[in-house]
Amino acid sequence: MHSLFGPASPQASAVAHLWWWMFGVGGGVWLIVIATLFYVIRAKRGRRESDDLLHLTPERESRLTRVVSGAVFVTLLVLVGFLAFDFGVGRIVAQHPRTALTIEVTAHQWWWEAQYADTNPSKRLVTANEIHVPTGTPVQIKLASHDVIHSFWIPNLNGKRDLIPGYASALWFTADTAGTYRGQCAEFCGLQHAKMAFYIVAEPPEKFAAWRAAASTPHSPPTDSTLVAGQRIFMSGGCAVCHTIAGTEARSTVGPDLSHFKSRSTIAAGTLPNTRANLMGWIINPQAIKPGTRMPPSALMPVQLNTLVAYLETLK
Ligand code: CUA
Repeated sequence: MHSLFGPASPQASAVAHLWWWMFGVGGGVWLIVIATLFYVIRAKRGRRESDDLLHLTPERESRLTRVVSGAVFVTLLVLVGFLAFDFGVGRIVAQHPRTALTIEVTAHQWWWEAQYADTNPSKRLVTANEIHVPTGTPVQIKLASHDVIHSFWIPNLNGKRDLIPGYASALWFTADTAGTYRGQCAEFCGLQHAKMAFYIVAEPPEKFAAWRAAASTPHSPPTDSTLVAGQRIFMSGGCAVCHTIAGTEARSTVGPDLSHFKSRSTIAAGTLPNTRANLMGWIINPQAIKPGTRMPPSALMPVQLNTLVAYLETLK
């Protein structure tokens, strides 16, 4: 779901409320203006030239002054009312609740890195493009950018927040309804800005704890001969130059962490469903799917590709 109209947090509810009030009041004002216009047009029909509004008698002029001043006053009232409402919503959206979970999100051209903070550094969990959070828990998202200005936006949970290189910012939300919410980079950041999506998976705390425990545990080394060969291709074929797989010697942070890659629903930051066929197409020629991405094409033979993908698919 990717919509402002399905708020799943107090922060997003405040924004949605403001939107509906603005829509309602704005629509009401528009109707009144249009109705008045039609009334004036009708009333003017068939009048004599001397009755024209341009020939003002003193009584008519004072009545007109009162009507116009009244309308200006009501306009001001509406604007000031919305200004106060807007500040109120701004306060709710920017509130810093007592944080229970901190996730450090770093934007890259064009994907999202997410690190779950933990006082024990060995327990820090790193993932990409799919961020799990527990429901009913205030979550702090610390935002940073690796390259250019991006913007973190999940309309169901909170408003937008820019990620500016060299400038730390943060955003808070408490997901009160479980669900998968789509997020999107909302600041033009280069060629593949549109293909820079992510997902927030809000789930009950027990389910989240189970996910976190599984996601923090490295897979044990493969024993099956095909999978061993697949892992070898990963390590020597160039993949390990950019990616990490926990528990192996692949430890680069240039591209997304692939330790539990197969547990994610999409590849290339929400670009394609995470299926075998899509993954093969992506590995062979990423530039055909996401031109400009930093991942280079690969010259694997079909057998090697099959073996590599068989290994990657075990990374659940
Ligand atoms: Cu990142 Cu637009």
